[in-house]
Amino acid sequence: MADDSTASLGVCKLWVDGAACDAADGETFDTMRPDTGEVLTALPRARAADVDRAVRSARLAFDEGEWPRLPASQRERILWRVGDLIEANVEKLARIESIDAGKPIKNTARADIPLSADTFRYFAGWATKLQGDTIPVRTPHLNYTLREPVGVVAAITPWNFPLLLAARKVAAALAAGNTVVLKPAEQASLTSLELGRLVSEAGAPPGTLNVLCGLGPEAGAALVEHPGVDKIAFTGGSDTGRRIAAASAPSLKKLALELGGKCANVVFADADLDAAIGGAVRAAYYNSGQVCTAGCRLLVQQDVHQRVVEGVAAGAAKLVVGDPLERATELGPLISAEQQRRVEGYIERGAAEGARRVTGSAGAAGGGGYFVQPTVFDKVTPEMTIAREEIFGPVLAVIPFRDVEEAARIADATDYGLAAGIWTRDIGRAHALAARLRCGTVWVNSYNLFDSPSPYGGMKQSGFGRENGAEVMHEMTQVKSVWVALS
Ligand code: NAI
Ligand code: MG
Repeated sequence: MADDSTASLGVCKLWVDGAACDAADGETFDTMRPDTGEVLTALPRARAADVDRAVRSARLAFDEGEWPRLPASQRERILWRVGDLIEANVEKLARIESIDAGKPIKNTARADIPLSADTFRYFAGWATKLQGDTIPVRTPHLNYTLREPVGVVAAITPWNFPLLLAARKVAAALAAGNTVVLKPAEQASLTSLELGRLVSEAGAPPGTLNVLCGLGPEAGAALVEHPGVDKIAFTGGSDTGRRIAAASAPSLKKLALELGGKCANVVFADADLDAAIGGAVRAAYYNSGQVCTAGCRLLVQQDVHQRVVEGVAAGAAKLVVGDPLERATELGPLISAEQQRRVEGYIERGAAEGARRVTGSAGAAGGGGYFVQPTVFDKVTPEMTIAREEIFGPVLAVIPFRDVEEAARIADATDYGLAAGIWTRDIGRAHALAARLRCGTVWVNSYNLFDSPSPYGGMKQSGFGRENGAEVMHEMTQVKSVWVALS
């Protein structure tokens, strides 16, 4: 299709010091189309030399450049303009994201891209709202705090919500006056490269945002180790998070890690069951289950177990799986052949360990794409692999429970602590359980709601640090205490 020509995919180059460029050694890597399994395009393969150039550019922009020294209202205007530019390019960016990451166009055009614009506008406002305190100390001194940027922030992002997760990190960091080097996932880098261009177009000086595409163990690892980086904001797998924590320890970089999840979505017998069933289907299968907060463990109270299993199975079977560029498509392919194999492995494991597969036919939905049909497993016990490990695909494990005590115990019986859902008409029970669960977000009679003002992040092995809201502005800044003798 002429439409898929490289030109319509955006810059497709590294964005360093305000300009597009190739890797220093001219090397490239192929990035794939998840819906066909074909090569989409070749991208520059950033390695240590490119990372060094990008970090130096960000370093200079921070240490001597304009960005942190601009009046806050100027930074606000520029970030707001980035939001406008993203909005003006919604169609183009949505299309790129759908082709590159296999995400349904319905989702990228209505959610990923518009929400990325909204994220820039939300954080634009923070630029002018950062302030310190005046503190009543015991001695005759004026003591006050200054809230200052951290420095050069490395943002490392995954492939499931490429532009949106990049926007969250980049917009918050820039609002506080930091400069940024962004390393998107090698599976889906294209919209992040465009973001580099748009931030420059909006008026940010060269070096304010640099974007490097490349492989995790090369570009990502070099960025984590680079002494010129002050802070790392990472979203991705838990193993990678551990590796980053270890690799960044020698230079004591500040860290925020948003890692995996194995979230429980708990349905009590007194819930509005139609709402709970619909909510459970969306929670489990949105973005083909490639969501760290996916409601992949559905805990159902015994009395309504049968009805809920039938409901979610019918809901799963109805989902339209197919071409991400078709308006009617609800589920696209998984991101890669590797993920497809992983998820299929879990499906085999679930059956082998004795869970009952209620729906989801084996095999691909189309051609050479990385499709997996939405799958429901009933009669899952908390010990089974599919109830413990993050699958990151359209696989739902239904686990029955007797009472609220057992529900709470099963919900928390995981190393992760990212999010949970509760469906009930009993308000007291909902609040009590929300307070008790060890996770960063709880949704009551709803699921997967996110908004820029509301903090988001994990407990336990789901990581630490928070994105969004006032919380992330604390993490993107540091506090200086100033003492002035009054006599
Ligand atoms: P990953 O954690 O390897 O990739 C995330 C980002 O980290 C990418 O930009 C990658 O290039 C970078 N990276 C990889 N190795 C690195 C290193 N040594 N140093 C610095 N950066 C590095 O995720 P992957 O392998 O694509 O997915 C594996 C599993 O992780 C998935 O099956 C899923 O369970 C989980 N995952 C969780 C996500 C979340 O939103 N919490 C997102 C993506 C994956
Ligand atoms: Mg791709």
